[in-house]
Amino acid sequence: MCIVGARPNFMKMAPILRALAAHQPPLPALLVHTGQHYDASMSDQLFADLQLPRPDLNLEVGSGSHAVQTAEVMKRFEPAVDEHRPSCILVVGDVNSTLACTLVGVKKGVPVVHVEAGLRSYDRKMPEEINRVLTDQVADRLYTTERSAAANLQREGIAPERICFAGNVMIDSLLSHRESARVPAATLQAHGANPALLQRPQGYGVVTLHRPSNVDDADTLRALLQVLAEIAYQLPLVFALHPRTRANIERFGLNSLINAEHMAMLPPQGYLEMVGLMAGATVVLTDSGGLQEETTALGVPCLTLRENTERPITIEQGTNTLVGRDVQAIRDGVAQILAGQGKRGRVPEYWDGHAAERIAADLYAWLRAGAP
Ligand code: UD1
Repeated sequence: MCIVGARPNFMKMAPILRALAAHQPPLPALLVHTGQHYDASMSDQLFADLQLPRPDLNLEVGSGSHAVQTAEVMKRFEPAVDEHRPSCILVVGDVNSTLACTLVGVKKGVPVVHVEAGLRSYDRKMPEEINRVLTDQVADRLYTTERSAAANLQREGIAPERICFAGNVMIDSLLSHRESARVPAATLQAHGANPALLQRPQGYGVVTLHRPSNVDDADTLRALLQVLAEIAYQLPLVFALHPRTRANIERFGLNSLINAEHMAMLPPQGYLEMVGLMAGATVVLTDSGGLQEETTALGVPCLTLRENTERPITIEQGTNTLVGRDVQAIRDGVAQILAGQGKRGRVPEYWDGHAAERIAADLYAWLRAGAP
């Protein structure tokens, strides 16, 4: 049983399902969507873009507090496990659905496999960090995206035999869709934004923000919108708004801070639109984990508006720089990139488009050998 719940899971699962089907012999999979994300723009559109099959099961849990959401996934997933009796449960990433399904599986004695294991921000105020630590502690087979993850896991007492360095499945998706990405001007046009914004000599920047630490506090969100509005005068910005961020801009009365002349405010974008926007950007400003990795793979400079990252390879080898919520650091970061001094970086080991194939091969051997 392969589990997806929220937007960042979909691009990880698509290549895994393909690799399981292409494996000789094929490894049959049942796709379960928990329904954590349910808006067309957060879910259906991504399924279409990534050619994901329709889920075999949709648990339709929807939104709620962390406790409610996690508990609801567990309650609804347990009978599905009883009914389908999978030989293993495969979870990806670090969202609430990842942890919820892991807990159900291990308590029922079903082997659990975690793809994207061992990433650590060492910031336990992030809900995703709790999901990562707990999932890895109890999952049976742990596939990592970068070598530093194994050291993190071993520090937490996890035996090296449980860990397999497979590479980055999110980059499998990126590479297979790079050619079919949507042209940025068409994306802006489709939303009634002015495509001329993209034609300045300095190019354009792409912004996404959705972390509670950035968007749930009115003062923080105000300061970030102010600095972005200021940057937009030098570098036009395309902002893809997460539903949480859009709601908070309304709630805190911050609409007037948007520099409408130099910023395109778009709804959450499809995968092909987002890849097109990122690939053509001068810089990406984000608090997303996935975008930090995708910009590294694309060689596009990324300024991460967080104090830490669980993906250190994007800083050490890639194009990523942490600027936190420090408005001066954000300004300086953009100025440096506009001066042609942005990080170029290199593509990390095993971010080569074949991670899912390595996972399928290992998973087959592991299950044949009797799993845990
Ligand atoms: C979740 C993940 C986060 C991931 C992000 C990508 C957790 C703890 N967090 O955060 O790691 O980076 O997805 O988006 O699992 N909402 C909608 N429509 C939807 C889904 C959500 O309007 O389809 C709104 C609801 O108001 C909801 C809020 O967004 O309450 C937050 O959704 P939730 O699933 O709780 O977390 P995300 O912030 O999306």
